[in-house]
Amino acid sequence: MASESLRDDKPRYVNRMFARIAARYDLMNTLMTFGQDQRWRRQMLEVSNLPPRGRLLDVGAGTGEIARQAAQLYPGVEVIGADFTLEMMAAAQAKRFRRPIPFVQGDTLALPFVDNSFDAAVSGFLLRNVADRKAALREQARVTKPGGRVVCLETAPPQNVLMEPLFRLYFFGLIPGIGGLVSGDAEAYAYLPNSTVDFPAPGAFKHEMELAGLRNVSYRTLMFGAVAIHWGEK
Ligand SMILES: C[S@@+](CC[C@H](N)C(=O)[O-])C[C@H]1O[C@@H](n2cnc3c(N)ncnc32)[C@H](O)[C@@H]1O
Repeated sequence: MASESLRDDKPRYVNRMFARIAARYDLMNTLMTFGQDQRWRRQMLEVSNLPPRGRLLDVGAGTGEIARQAAQLYPGVEVIGADFTLEMMAAAQAKRFRRPIPFVQGDTLALPFVDNSFDAAVSGFLLRNVADRKAALREQARVTKPGGRVVCLETAPPQNVLMEPLFRLYFFGLIPGIGGLVSGDAEAYAYLPNSTVDFPAPGAFKHEMELAGLRNVSYRTLMFGAVAIHWGEK
């Protein structure tokens, strides 16, 4: 069963799953979020506080949608993407970007960059896939310059008692079915709701960021609390 292999070796399970769904990943995101995902990525970039000629690392870059928006929004900023799934980065590299963006293969727990080398490290929908979130946050902080920001965009477990049943119906009832039809991989889209409810609520995740050594941590929620953006300073 999926949950067993997930328990046994989460990185391997996650890597294989994203390799399988890479070709349909963007389409499924657009469908699942009613086209809102691009707006969330932009809102995340807006709190990354980049200087005009700064350097941005997109961790768990996947098919490169955050990197693509960053290159559009910040023409003077150097943007680099890193991910451990080659198939996702191949999908990114097949896209036409405003300017060339390097995508580097790397694990978020051991990023192939020197200390203090980026003005911000951002990630979108990455951390719920990572076995050791605190280590991942520390690693993102390591490569960020002092005063720079670590910013995370993630789905959040539903907190609103009125919306909670609707979220559950949507996440557990509809998404695996739609994902199965569109990507041919219902298991991957059954993983999404489970990983979301396992993720800490926004306030608790803020605390995790503080424990990872980040300061002035703040967050905002979007989509009736189904999505959260957290940011903190090194
Ligand atoms: C849900 S996708 C998000 C992609 C992209 N950030 C976006 O906004 O659509 C998660 C990505 O994180 C990557 N990932 C998961 N665990 C990772 C790890 N330990 N190291 C590097 N990348 C990882 C996966 O390969 C996948 O491409």
